[in-house]
Amino acid sequence: MPLDEIRQLPSRFARTAWLARQAGFGGVQIHAAHGYLLSQFLSPLFNKRSDEYGGVIANRMRPLLEAIEATRAAVGPDFPIAVKLNSSDQLEGGFDKEDALEVVAALDGSSVDLIDISGGTYFPGANSASDGTVSGPYFLEFAKRARMATTKPLMLTGGFKRRAQAEDAVASDAVDIVGLARALVLEPSLPDLWKADRKPEPIFPRFPDAPERGITVWYTMRLTEIGADKETPVFGDLGQAIRDYKGRNKSRSKVWLRHFANSVVGQT
Ligand SMILES: Cc1cc2nc3c(=O)[nH]c(=O)nc-3n(C[C@H](O)[C@H](O)[C@H](O)COP(=O)(O)O)c2cc1C
Repeated sequence: MPLDEIRQLPSRFARTAWLARQAGFGGVQIHAAHGYLLSQFLSPLFNKRSDEYGGVIANRMRPLLEAIEATRAAVGPDFPIAVKLNSSDQLEGGFDKEDALEVVAALDGSSVDLIDISGGTYFPGANSASDGTVSGPYFLEFAKRARMATTKPLMLTGGFKRRAQAEDAVASDAVDIVGLARALVLEPSLPDLWKADRKPEPIFPRFPDAPERGITVWYTMRLTEIGADKETPVFGDLGQAIRDYKGRNKSRSKVWLRHFANSVVGQT
């Protein structure tokens, strides 16, 4: 990535956040996790630069810190800004917990309002949190260490399935807020049900033979059904979800290419 493009990044994040504010959103989250651009800068596996944006972690986190400060300047002091940060890439030679703790310490001195802890990456062959099958919160131990490095509010996302797990995480004082993704797809009113002490808990479908990203695809298609008001009480089949997802991508790619093919070709 040429230096002039990197130097434009903060203002791009800032403008996007400003537009979100104008559109009526109550806050923004800067995504520095899961293998997206800012997390690639953070990771020594992806970031091979030898300038002030590569090498030591202080350099690798520079785009993130600059994005936060530009965003704050654009949205003003009262608009909430969160950062989603990996506890690690879960890749050998990648962004590790020691790096992540240094970023948490630097975020402590920034104008960010909330740190949302996650992990993993959408890189072929790697672990991603939305495909995870381990029972219980995935990154709780890291959150406890992060707590020592910052006084900012902490959020933890990944692996929460039952109310007791969320309550325990908050009661342990490791985190202030729990994030839910797949549980909320299965039961969009889950927070209200938990608050009202209503049972039963959501039933998570099991996909023992799911291919890589298959679980995430199933939830994506379930979310699509809910968005279109077309969900059925009986959950759909994994194979069908994958076929539907591929079909949808095919038709979306056509539209995408029609709009952007020339600029993509121009850049390569
Ligand atoms: C269908 C689906 C879409 C997701 N989209 C996003 C996203 O746009 N941004 C993001 O940060 N994480 C996204 N995630 C990841 C979740 O935020 C979360 O980190 C992950 O699913 C683990 O949490 P969970 O165990 O509660 O599902 C998505 C997950 C799923 C299942």
